[in-house]
Amino acid sequence: MTTNPTLERIGVTPSPLALLLLGQGADPDSERGVDCPGALPAAADPRLAERAAAAKEALGGKVFVLGHHYQRDDVIAFADVTGDSFKLAQQAAARPEAEHIVFCGVHFMAESADILTAPHQQVILPDLAAGCSMADMATAEQVEQAWDDLLDAGAAEGTVPVTYMNSSAAIKAFTGRHDGTVCTSSNARRALEWAFGPERGGRRVLFLPDQHLGRNTAIGELGLTAADCVVYDPRRPNGGLTPAQLRDAKMILWRGHCSVHGRFTRECVDEVRARIPGVTVLVHPECKREVVTGADLVGSTEYIIKVVDEAPAGSSFAIGTELNLVQRLANRHPDKNIVFLDRTVCFCSTMNRIDMPHLVWALESLVRGEPVNRITVAPEVATYARKALDQMLALP
Ligand code: 13P
Ligand code: SF4
Repeated sequence: MTTNPTLERIGVTPSPLALLLLGQGADPDSERGVDCPGALPAAADPRLAERAAAAKEALGGKVFVLGHHYQRDDVIAFADVTGDSFKLAQQAAARPEAEHIVFCGVHFMAESADILTAPHQQVILPDLAAGCSMADMATAEQVEQAWDDLLDAGAAEGTVPVTYMNSSAAIKAFTGRHDGTVCTSSNARRALEWAFGPERGGRRVLFLPDQHLGRNTAIGELGLTAADCVVYDPRRPNGGLTPAQLRDAKMILWRGHCSVHGRFTRECVDEVRARIPGVTVLVHPECKREVVTGADLVGSTEYIIKVVDEAPAGSSFAIGTELNLVQRLANRHPDKNIVFLDRTVCFCSTMNRIDMPHLVWALESLVRGEPVNRITVAPEVATYARKALDQMLALP
């Protein structure tokens, strides 16, 4: 197996599985929408960067490229703005002059961008297979069923839906219809304070779809207890809960999680502390509760970057988030000791779907006036989803 010096430096052992996740093989049963009509440039084409630069230059101010921090380095080099999902939603809304928004991120982010942009703007996702397994853990039908269960239990009144950005537009629309809000990992605390506060006056929150972000924010930041939280399992009748449990809960956490952040364990934290004395453990709030309680700092991708950028030379960090970002931080700060919290590879396979061939294909299609992979949200969904997104953007 080939070695990768950056991976070695941040303490990661590559595995054959990681290579499969990075596109060396295909799983036709689980992939969707991966066909690219027309010619997808070859991955080995040495002119990919040149072609992307030429297409961007030809498009000028008509194109605006957004890049999430989990994107690959070669792709992120072409982003006009990089950010966490909150910043990217703000940026998408702030560029009415750009005809085409090329979203280097995942499907739910591109959907949100389409909802927040004007009708004359087109949002393009270079690879339609760039989904999010967490977002797929809550379908619109399941969420409607959960609301029916709450109605039957006499618990719907006083319940405010708070939905993580990592969800489909249909679930954001459900949230808007029930006067809730969207949140991201950088404003989840403010979203919960708003939901429980005098302005909204909620007695309980239905938190979708990431149980860990919901639990970490409720317990770690609002001071609620584990007993205030229940987990609603959409695959079980009544979510696996009694009507009294639904009524008594302050936080009804959807049983969803991120498969990437779910890999970090408390053992990883203990092991790295033993290995690197004085290390600061810095994790994303999609990690499990026991990982977050064992860490020193917790926050969104934008927060993680800020902490590392502002730390003095010689600082040591073990970072629990997606590997592209950790590698980038390690390369940017050779004067700091940055290791990945896990000992094995943990890329987000769907974020990695956006690669140079797909970016070049998407940009060159725009130059030819034949846009590909446009993401559009139906107006009846977009109206209420926008209400929930606007509520998030208006959070204090
Ligand atoms: P951020 O909002 O921190 O960018 O995270 C998005 C995401 O998908 C994390 O898994
Ligand atoms: Fe989804 Fe997790 Fe990937 Fe983020 S890191 S896009 S939550 S699968």
